[in-house]
Amino acid sequence: MPIAAATDARERSAAIIDFLPLQGTDYVEFYVGNAKQAAHYYKSAFGFQSLAYSGPETGNRETVSYVVRQNKLTFVFTTALRPDHPVAAHVHLHGDGVKVLALRVDDAASAWKETTARGGRSYKEPTMLCDQWGEVTLSGIHTYGETVHLFVERKDYQGPFLPGFREWKTAYNPPSTGLLYVDHSVGNVGWHQMNPWVGFYQDVMGFRNILSFDDKDISTEYSALMSKVMSNGNGFVKFPINEPAEGKKKSQVEEFLDFYRGEGVQHVALATNDIVGTVTQLRDRGVEFLTIPSSYYRDLLSRVGHIDEDLAPLEELGILVDRDDEGYLLQIFTKPVEDRPTVFFEIIQRKGAQSFGKGNFKALFEAIELEQDSRGNL
Ligand code: FE2
Repeated sequence: MPIAAATDARERSAAIIDFLPLQGTDYVEFYVGNAKQAAHYYKSAFGFQSLAYSGPETGNRETVSYVVRQNKLTFVFTTALRPDHPVAAHVHLHGDGVKVLALRVDDAASAWKETTARGGRSYKEPTMLCDQWGEVTLSGIHTYGETVHLFVERKDYQGPFLPGFREWKTAYNPPSTGLLYVDHSVGNVGWHQMNPWVGFYQDVMGFRNILSFDDKDISTEYSALMSKVMSNGNGFVKFPINEPAEGKKKSQVEEFLDFYRGEGVQHVALATNDIVGTVTQLRDRGVEFLTIPSSYYRDLLSRVGHIDEDLAPLEELGILVDRDDEGYLLQIFTKPVEDRPTVFFEIIQRKGAQSFGKGNFKALFEAIELEQDSRGNL
């Protein structure tokens, strides 16, 4: 067979296999105790812009949602208006946390049909919403813990966010920090639950396992975890899944599970093209990062080879570097962004590398353990 025809055949069969084509992350929704103040924090500290609002003024008497955006990142913060609302129960149990990892699709009805036929538990049957700006179809399935995936079909919807939301205009518009899009979202699951959830992403959503780390890769003197990275067909959506592993002391995943009261999203990694500029902005605007010991930088260049960046600002900010066969990456991790030691963010700049910073795991987890110890949770 000529090469072109063989390639065509492979592309055709890949298209047939990908029963859940995804265009990427549509939005991330957090259920929080005070959506108004959370939205303000993400604007002032992280550089998001006001986008949309839903609440009593738009006819929604159940909840209030503020939507903020920065480049391709859209975050939604939702709070219940009455104590017996499911959003209030979620916040009561978990604290502030990620409820929805919403994925952009061309056909939300098909996404729901394909995933539920493969064993996915329905969260929302395909539902068309419309207003004067057009229509959006939503559907959804449950994943680990109380977390859900919504499938969002927007077609040519012209409104600010979703039907039912109005534009949120405000005089307070702090500048962007250069955050671009969701690189990956990590789930923490319970003991011996990693492989069942890997199976879920494989069987129900058609993802494949692109990387695996065992407790020898991710361990310090005290604690350990295991992780497998799941990716959809085009690589736009990546979900690493962590579970705790036995160590001398408590794993950071266990601390999360204790305080989140179950499985949930541990961190969302946000991409930037200028990590030094972005992290300088974030730090100056009050975002707190894990502290990396200066010894990490002593032999960094002998470990990772030449990098374009100056070492001094990386060390000053605590930015980590790792290299794989395809290039290198720079990354840094915030402290938890709420009072419970649960959800945090990673800021990542990829310069060719498609991996997740395996060479940094030890330094990173030792930094996390210092924080755990200061909380009395190690
Ligand atoms: Fe990550």
